[in-house]
Amino acid sequence: MSDPVLDRAQAWSAFDAAAAASASALIVEQFAADPDRLARLSLEAAGLYLDLSKQSWTREGFEACLTLAQASGLVERRAALFGGEAVNETEGRAVLHTALRAPDGADDHALGEPVSAEVEAVRAEMKAYAEAVRSGAATGATGQRFEAIVHVGIGGSDLGPRLVWDALKPLDPTIDLRFVANIDPRDMAEALTGLDPETTLVVVVSKTFTTQETLANAEAAKAWLAAGLSGQSIAAHFIGVTAAPEKAAAFGCGRTFAFRDWVGGRYSLWSAVSLSCAVALGWEAFQGLLDGAAAMDRHFAEAPLERNAPVLMALAQVWNVDGLGRSARTVAPYAHALRRLPSFLQQLEMESNGKRVHRDGTPVTRQTCPVVFGEPGTNGQHAFFQQIHQGPQTVPAEFVIVARTHGEATESPLWANALAQGQALMLGKTADQARSEMLAAGTEAAEADRLAPHRAFPGNRPSTAIVMDRLTPQALGALLALYEHKTFVEGVIWDINSFDQWGVELGKVLAKAILTDVAAGGPSQTLDPSTGALMSRLMGPSGD
Ligand code: F6P
Repeated sequence: MSDPVLDRAQAWSAFDAAAAASASALIVEQFAADPDRLARLSLEAAGLYLDLSKQSWTREGFEACLTLAQASGLVERRAALFGGEAVNETEGRAVLHTALRAPDGADDHALGEPVSAEVEAVRAEMKAYAEAVRSGAATGATGQRFEAIVHVGIGGSDLGPRLVWDALKPLDPTIDLRFVANIDPRDMAEALTGLDPETTLVVVVSKTFTTQETLANAEAAKAWLAAGLSGQSIAAHFIGVTAAPEKAAAFGCGRTFAFRDWVGGRYSLWSAVSLSCAVALGWEAFQGLLDGAAAMDRHFAEAPLERNAPVLMALAQVWNVDGLGRSARTVAPYAHALRRLPSFLQQLEMESNGKRVHRDGTPVTRQTCPVVFGEPGTNGQHAFFQQIHQGPQTVPAEFVIVARTHGEATESPLWANALAQGQALMLGKTADQARSEMLAAGTEAAEADRLAPHRAFPGNRPSTAIVMDRLTPQALGALLALYEHKTFVEGVIWDINSFDQWGVELGKVLAKAILTDVAAGGPSQTLDPSTGALMSRLMGPSGD
């Protein structure tokens, strides 16, 4: 009988040995040494094409990663995830966002309780409501059609729907969907500017319905509706989406769409959390998003590990972070409509896997989630890509490429840049090459010598390309589900709980205490000198 703990420890040792052996390997040389490399490290999954052949793996390194995935119990953990077991151990919850996008007739269970009938019922309710608002059958208090939606929520109750709307909205939408997240009143003020309460729907989204920012913004929106509808009921204008429906009703929501605690906040865009998008985009688009994600779920559940897109993406990250010491990753969507993808991924990955203890509470001994950041291409090229090309630190890059971003034609001026970046990162340019180019262009030899080191690129920097033909709802659903499962696989390999977020709690508690001090007129004795001085300064008279 094999011992899982020992197997895992041995797999990590083999991983470390393979990483040490390949530390100076050149990616370009791997193509020559291994003619199957592109075929092995590229694949089609749920309508997406992935190319991981420009990653830093040697063949042996890749094999060591696969062995590590197997030894980490990935197959069993994946079955536990889809089977609705309590994979979120610290909160005793199942994690079943996959059930939200499963086709009608599925039979999913959370901690043994059947959930699919309820999922279908809420979906049907959302669809009927979306169609009623769009057709004008559901109107505001004064009988007018809704022309605008203000979606109020933060974190997972904001980033997913915001990304979906930006990615899929028509150029001239019939419903003007706006988002408010920040507790800074300026955010709400901007969102409400130009809107008429009689034709505006406010959708308050909060899993817990206790989040300070969301409740403050919801109060402001409620007051704005009440003032604008002078004496008439705001019920038809003020909708809640939550896993705590009793709290939403007590808050004054006229109608509530519910989801369950087995839907994590950052995994919730497949639920009624995206009600605003379902209304503003239409049901067909939302259903397409669910279908694309379900196709990726099937791929993740069924494909062998070595041909499994989320698994390969996760292994590339683990190899970079733990094998080669790379503590950041940049994501560059080459599509303006995907400009929110980096912020969405920051929450998905860093809130899920920014952890320092194993599932059993013992401290981790390896790095976990890298810093994830990015900007759409080509904008990022003119900002931080300098460091990616020539900084001393290697930052793996991920290019999400859409062939046709606008209209029928393939946008080659856009994606040519993504391809060129991947090439440049991998190939680099030696100082000798830089010098020869300058001499050929007529530069004096002394000047060419002086400039050559500045104009050289180290190269051998890894990247992944994810390609889709068009940014359809299906392709977007598949892409986001790909990242969700990648995040899960990394959590399994790091043996951490990807589904809790205790790290956000302390700041919330301390902010409340500071507000209590503000209400009491000044810093209490318990504040440290620095925080006390900052507070006095901020409470002081305005500098005008
Ligand atoms: O503070 C972090 C967090 O709990 C996220 O995990 C969550 O997505 C966000 O706050 C919003 O929470 P809620 O949906 O309960 O308002």
